[in-house]
Amino acid sequence: MTRNTYILAIDQGTTSTRAILFDDDGLPVPAATAQIEHRQIFPHAGWVEHDAMEIWTNVRNAMAHVASEVDLEPALVRAIGITNQRETVVVWDKATGKPVYNAIVWQDTRTSGICARLAEGHPAGADRFRETTGLPLSTYFAGPKIRWILDHLDANGERGTERAEAGELLAGTMDTWVVWNLTGGRRGDDDNNPALHVTDVTNASRTLLMDLHTLDWDEEICREVGVPLAMLPEIVPSSGVLGHVTGRRMFGGIPIAGILGDQQAALFGQTCFEPGDTKNTYGTGAFLLLNTGTTPQFSTNGLLTTVAYRLGDDAPVYALEGSVAMAGSLVQWLRDNLGVISSAAETEQLAASLDDNGDCYLVPAFSGLLAPHWRPDARGVMVGLTRFHTKAHLARAALEATAFQTREMVDAMIADAGAAAGADTSTAASARPLRVDGGMVVNDYLMQFQADLLGVDVVRPEVTETTALGAAFAAGLAVGAWESIDTLRELWREDHRWSPAMSEDERARLMARWGDAVERTLGWADA
Ligand code: G3P
Repeated sequence: MTRNTYILAIDQGTTSTRAILFDDDGLPVPAATAQIEHRQIFPHAGWVEHDAMEIWTNVRNAMAHVASEVDLEPALVRAIGITNQRETVVVWDKATGKPVYNAIVWQDTRTSGICARLAEGHPAGADRFRETTGLPLSTYFAGPKIRWILDHLDANGERGTERAEAGELLAGTMDTWVVWNLTGGRRGDDDNNPALHVTDVTNASRTLLMDLHTLDWDEEICREVGVPLAMLPEIVPSSGVLGHVTGRRMFGGIPIAGILGDQQAALFGQTCFEPGDTKNTYGTGAFLLLNTGTTPQFSTNGLLTTVAYRLGDDAPVYALEGSVAMAGSLVQWLRDNLGVISSAAETEQLAASLDDNGDCYLVPAFSGLLAPHWRPDARGVMVGLTRFHTKAHLARAALEATAFQTREMVDAMIADAGAAAGADTSTAASARPLRVDGGMVVNDYLMQFQADLLGVDVVRPEVTETTALGAAFAAGLAVGAWESIDTLRELWREDHRWSPAMSEDERARLMARWGDAVERTLGWADA
């Protein structure tokens, strides 16, 4: 690689938007990093929204901050890569560039009625679209959220569906929204150089509307869900030059060359390029992805089949994914809602101050349970409480909940891989080290407990900004900044490793108790 060139990554996440500049060695440039939080809007219990205009302003400001902090010629930035919170959708007016409704966030459960109606009376129930999309019908995914927005515009007499069919309304996940705005947005039509309305194949695979085999929108499913094709973006590969940033200032003319949903970006940034490579990201939620190679594997154990990445015209690479909604957000809840800790870091000393968990378990089914249970009717519980327990037990139970949920997902992966004849992933999922990243991997207690509970090494890389790094890798590959994925492999360096130190009996005992606690969450919302 030519020395001293850079790739800019934009990471549009659930709680904040970041811009990070990476150098030739895949290292973040000190000071060339910006992070701007946006408002979390909770209009009703179970609803979560973002203001898409606020997010776009934050993207621009984060880019401006990076540009002003580093003394470099913009031309030295060879490409921009984008990664984003997945499944969160915006619908906007093509002519004005204004969203017609707040973005509905992936955690939002308002579409439970739409999902239940789609499943009702169908022999496969909630799995009716699984063979095509790899996903169960769930409030988690983007398609039903678009339908909800259109329904509610219609209800206001605004002819949402009609306007969408006429191409006046556009829909997209956050990657689509950011790229559309970076490439001209509303002004993009003025000079016959329309703004790009695209999404990458990994984000599209989270909508419930894309056929995993053809990598195109499935017309029949779109019709069933009630999302007009005319409002959907073009699906593009994860790595490849899509277009250029418009305008003369601030990265104007720089190619946008990579898009990946954030969990797929983390898999890519962790250089999990071989079937059997697995990573877990401990962020707001926890997301475990297993590379399964170029053939999609379908789960019978509650996991999702998703596109991991597609480089240009190469065959797509697929993954099995386990997603849990509450991980870091549970620690935030202890801090912000209960006020029992003043910082997330405190949980580490509190948990380590105890000899054992005091037989206390906290199951954070705050908006139901996602993988591998898929039970929207579950609600959170803490079991085993006596007067002996203190906030240290609460902190420990919160950390351990993330590790227990991860172990459930790993077990599901092993069961799926065992079921897939000839699959080479069974030993991989169970024996290869787990690569970890995300905000919680600084928590030594959690990482050691995770290694103990899984019985495999847990490994943290030097660069823990793997999500942004993955987007930078995808963009850099497309413009030749790095030659191949082998070059990327050489850039991955281990920082820390935790090895299991727990007996198999103790592991089994703890998992059985966890299972008992999970049982007590089920059906609560419907009781
Ligand atoms: O599927 C949701 C996921 O993409 C959100 O990730 O890191 O923004 O919480 P994060």
